Amino acid sequence: MSKQLQEKPVQEQPAREASETFITIRLPEDARPIGLLPAEFEADYVAGAVAPFFLSGRYTGERPALPMIDFAFGKEKAIDPHMWGLLYDGWTPNGEEEGTSVFIQGYENRGAHNERKRIYMSATSPDLVKTRYRDKIVRFFDELLADVNAGKPLMKQFYAHYFDMYWDLHLGVRGDAIPAEVRQFGSSFNAVLGFGFPTTDVVHENYMRVRQTREPLKRWVDSRVQAIIDGKVPDADRTFVHYWVKNGGLGPNFRRKDIVFECFHNFLAFSQLGNTTYNIMARLEAAHGDQAIKRWLERTMANGPDEDDGCEFTPLDRFVMELFRTISPNAGSLSVLPRRRALMGAEFSTIITPHAATSMDPRHWTDPEAFDPDRYRTAPTTADNDEGRVHELGLAQGPFPQCPFAVKDGRNVELANSAFGAVYPVIEGVAAPLCDTAGYAPFGFGYRRCAGEHLVIAFVKEFLRASRKRGLSFTRLQLQSPERLPVGPGTVISDDIAFQRAART
Ligand code: HEM
Repeated sequence: MSKQLQEKPVQEQPAREASETFITIRLPEDARPIGLLPAEFEADYVAGAVAPFFLSGRYTGERPALPMIDFAFGKEKAIDPHMWGLLYDGWTPNGEEEGTSVFIQGYENRGAHNERKRIYMSATSPDLVKTRYRDKIVRFFDELLADVNAGKPLMKQFYAHYFDMYWDLHLGVRGDAIPAEVRQFGSSFNAVLGFGFPTTDVVHENYMRVRQTREPLKRWVDSRVQAIIDGKVPDADRTFVHYWVKNGGLGPNFRRKDIVFECFHNFLAFSQLGNTTYNIMARLEAAHGDQAIKRWLERTMANGPDEDDGCEFTPLDRFVMELFRTISPNAGSLSVLPRRRALMGAEFSTIITPHAATSMDPRHWTDPEAFDPDRYRTAPTTADNDEGRVHELGLAQGPFPQCPFAVKDGRNVELANSAFGAVYPVIEGVAAPLCDTAGYAPFGFGYRRCAGEHLVIAFVKEFLRASRKRGLSFTRLQLQSPERLPVGPGTVISDDIAFQRAART
C-alpha cells in the first residue's frame, strides 16, 4: 500500500443529528411520479403517500439488553412517511400549526423531563381507570357480549361498539351525539392502518376519506373540548381531555391544538385493542386454543384473581401481562435513524426495535418460551429501577434523573420515572409500577413506553371477567369466506371467532 494512501484514509462523515426541519424536495409538475398507478389515484396522493412508501425502507434493530432505547434512534417524526397525509393537510408534518402527539415527538421536544408524556399519563393512571373509566369499559363488554351477539363473528360486533367507548373515554360523548363523519373517520383510519399498502384501492379510498373528514372531525372535537373547559359536560372528570386540560394548563407542552390532535391520533394506539382481543380469543378457543394458557386462566380465576399475594402485580395482572408478552400485539418500537451516507429516500427510512424477539430472548428469562405468569413475581419494576440499581448493573449513572411530576387536578398523584425513563404513577404515595425489564417488551421501552398500559391491562381484565361471569367459550366458525377486518397496524384478520354461552341449568 502506498504511503500516501496510508496517511489519508478515506473518512466517513460522522452521523448528523436528526434535522429539526422536514425537507420535501420541490419538483416541477412534470417531474412528479406519473403513470404508475390508476388514474383514480390523485396526483397528490401518489406524490404524498405512494412515492414516500416506495422510497422508504424499514429495518429491524437489535434486541435491547436494558429496558430503554438510546436517543440515537429518535422518536421525533418517527412514523412511516406515507402516513403524514392522514394527519396533516400538506402531506408532511406541521405540528407547530396543526397540533402534534407525544407519539411522534423526540424526548428533546417534550418539555423538561418528558413533561408532555407525564401530562398525557395524568389521564390514564389506574386510580382513574378504577373509579372513572371502568364503567365505560364494562358497558362496552356488556354490549359486545350480549346474548344477541352469540354465535356471530365477534370482531365486527367489536367495532360496532368500539367508537362509543373511544369517544366516551376521550370526550364523554357516545351514541347519536357522535356525528356520522366522525365515525367514518375512525373506520377509514383503522382501514388504512390495517390494510397498509398505499397502492391498493382499499387503502387509497379510505386514506382520501380520512382527509375529507378530518377537518369536520377536528372542529367537532374542538367544540367538545371547549364544552369540557366551560364545565358543560356532565362527569367531565371521566374523560381524558379533562386531565389533559387541567395538567397541561393549555401550555406549550399540551396546547389546545395538541389535545384535539391526540384525540384523533389515539386511533392508532386504541386500534391495537382489536388485534389484542382477537388474539386472546384465539388462545382461549375451545378446540384449537392454547392448553397451557387455558389452564392458567382457570387456576388464576379460581384462586382469587385480584388478591394481594405479596407481589406488585395481582395474579390476574400477571396472567394478562404474560398474554401481552407472548402475543406481542405491537411488533416493535419505531424510530428514525441518523444517516451516514445516502442518496435518495433514506430520510424516509425507519427502524424497528423488535418486541416479540426481545421478550423471547434467553438473556432475559431462563424459560422464555413458556407461558408463566409467575415470572413477574420477581421481575424488576419501575419502582425497583432507581439509581442504585443502575449502579448494580455496572453503569455510572442512569440517563434519566428521577423527577416526579405532581398532577394539578386535585388528586394526590405523581408521575414518577425509573432510572431507565419509564413513567409510572404514584397514587396517594403508593407506586403503581410497571414491569421494567427488557424481557417484558410488549409496551416498548423507557421514556417512550406505552402511556396507556394500565388502561390496556384493565381492559383485558374486564374482558376476561365479563366472559367468565357469563360462562362464555370461544369457537372458531367454519365460514366459507369470513370477512377480512383490519384490527391494528398492518394486521387484518378473518373474522371467524364467536362466543357461545354455556347451557343454563
Ligand atoms: C393493546 C394495546 C396497546 C399496545 C400493545 C400498545 C403498545 C405500545 C408501544 C409498544 C408503544 C411504544 C412505541 C415506541 O416506542 O415506538 C406505545 C406507545 C404509546 N402508547 Fe400504547 N399500546 C396500546 C394501547 C394504548 C392505548 C389504549 C393508549 C392510550 C390510552 C396508548 C398510548 C400510547 C402513547 C401515548 C404512546 C407514546 C408514548 C411515548 O412516546 O412516550 N397505547 N404503545
